[in-house]
Amino acid sequence: MSEPTFPIASLTVPVIAIDGPSASGKGTVAQLVAEKLGFHYLDSGALYRIVALATQQKNIAWDDALAVTECAKKLTIRFNNDQVYLQEGDVLKDISDEIRTEAMGKGASQVAVHASLRAALLDLQHSFRQAPGLVADGRDMGTVVFPNAQLKIFLTASTEVRATRRYQQLLAKNQPANFDNILLDLQERDARDKSRASAPLVMANDAILLETDNLGISEAVDIVLQNYQRKICK
Ligand code: DC
Repeated sequence: MSEPTFPIASLTVPVIAIDGPSASGKGTVAQLVAEKLGFHYLDSGALYRIVALATQQKNIAWDDALAVTECAKKLTIRFNNDQVYLQEGDVLKDISDEIRTEAMGKGASQVAVHASLRAALLDLQHSFRQAPGLVADGRDMGTVVFPNAQLKIFLTASTEVRATRRYQQLLAKNQPANFDNILLDLQERDARDKSRASAPLVMANDAILLETDNLGISEAVDIVLQNYQRKICK
């Protein structure tokens, strides 16, 4: 795995952990909360997507835990705002679009079942905990990676609403989209992410549940910010 992008972080730096299933809107909400607070942002799903892409390029099967983990340990990853780069020889390649496909989302969910890979990605995720604070989104931010986060949010929506959002996102990007396939893929990914033995998608005991079926992005952002203010004023 690459050298941490940031130096070793202090445990006193505040973290807001936002977990939830695919297409729940957690990425957008997390990014906006980070922007409003001037905090750093960690898109932990991107890490699993990068591993899915890199292993596919090396013809490593996603169910080969050992080979996937060894490959991940050798990767040099760089983040710059929304952009994600992978070092290939002397070249730093922008893989931001390649990792955001449906195929890499599926692949990410498959490599993410391996406990050895999850362990190999821990230090890199912890290195994002930098002053003045961090907003981290994923599946296990509040349960495993940052269990002492100041605020934990579990952001979710019904499968139908999430599939509709994903469908509209793909159409907006002029990418092929079939609603029924998207719905099936989401159900399959939810089932895999929830049922795996290592760090499954589960709401932390001390998390706040945010259902977004009838909630706009800005309302969700405001609720997260209000809860954060409440927590830090205690
Ligand atoms: O958030 P996302 O859709 O980019 O995540 C892609 C997959 O990566 C998701 O289906 C499961 C996995 N993942 C994970 O296991 N743990 C995380 N913290 C983030 C993502």
